[in-house]
Amino acid sequence: MLSLSNITVSYDGSRVLRGVELTVPEKSLICLMGRNGVGKTTTLKSIVGLVKTDSGSVKLAGEEIGKLAPDVRARRGIGYVPQGRDIFPHLTVLENLRISVVVHGNRAADQMDRVLELFPILKEFLQRKGGVLSGGQQQQLAIARALLTNPKVLILDEPTEGIQPNIIDLIGEALLKIKREGKISILLVEQYLDFCLSIGDYFHIMDRGAVVAHGPIADLNQDLVRKHLTV
Ligand SMILES: Nc1ncnc2c1ncn2[C@@H]1O[C@H](COP(=O)(O)OP(=O)(O)OP(=O)(O)O)[C@@H](O)[C@H]1O
Ligand SMILES: [Mg+2]
Repeated sequence: MLSLSNITVSYDGSRVLRGVELTVPEKSLICLMGRNGVGKTTTLKSIVGLVKTDSGSVKLAGEEIGKLAPDVRARRGIGYVPQGRDIFPHLTVLENLRISVVVHGNRAADQMDRVLELFPILKEFLQRKGGVLSGGQQQQLAIARALLTNPKVLILDEPTEGIQPNIIDLIGEALLKIKREGKISILLVEQYLDFCLSIGDYFHIMDRGAVVAHGPIADLNQDLVRKHLTV
């Protein structure tokens, strides 16, 4: 569904991605893991179009999208939930969701009921300001907003960061449900190992700007964890 090949990115002349290779098969959930600063967020930004790549290719459903503007990529089917969420705190939940509808039109309007079904708490809090929601509720809102664009690939950057365990479970269940519906593949940057083990199909591990290991989640063994993930 989505594939990156040989992606290189530099910030101010220093290289942070050194030939990233990554594949997200159809109907699957991929966990992209690695220690702080290895380039996980930059990899996601290279898919979404928020950093300039020096080289490499980004293909969505076989078509090159690596040179397109971020909004064009979004309309082609890239849904993105950035690290730290990024909802509008002074707008209500409903207004936050409607922004997606305004930008993506009927496609988003059709999805509204389904998305609210996935996250019942949002339905309850439609008139509350985004800024007063808990971190976990804001994360659900951010995911809901991305889903309204009806993406082919949903990309999330550390959705469990700073969120309490019962909400993490809710988010995990929602992601599994989305995946099982079979229309959306999911790429997740995640440092919380147990979350990856419980919902992931495949893992990719990054170290110093490259993917150094990947495979089915069952192959994510203690050796790999010790070598590339523990601090
Ligand atoms: N806008 C920027 N300008 C300059 N350097 C940057 C910029 N964004 C990231 N970097 C650097 O690029 C490297 C990779 O950063 P990135 O955010 O992709 O890592 P990450 O794996 O997502 O880390 P974390 O787990 O802390 O979120 C880091 O060394 C970081 O300091
Ligand atoms: Mg990051």
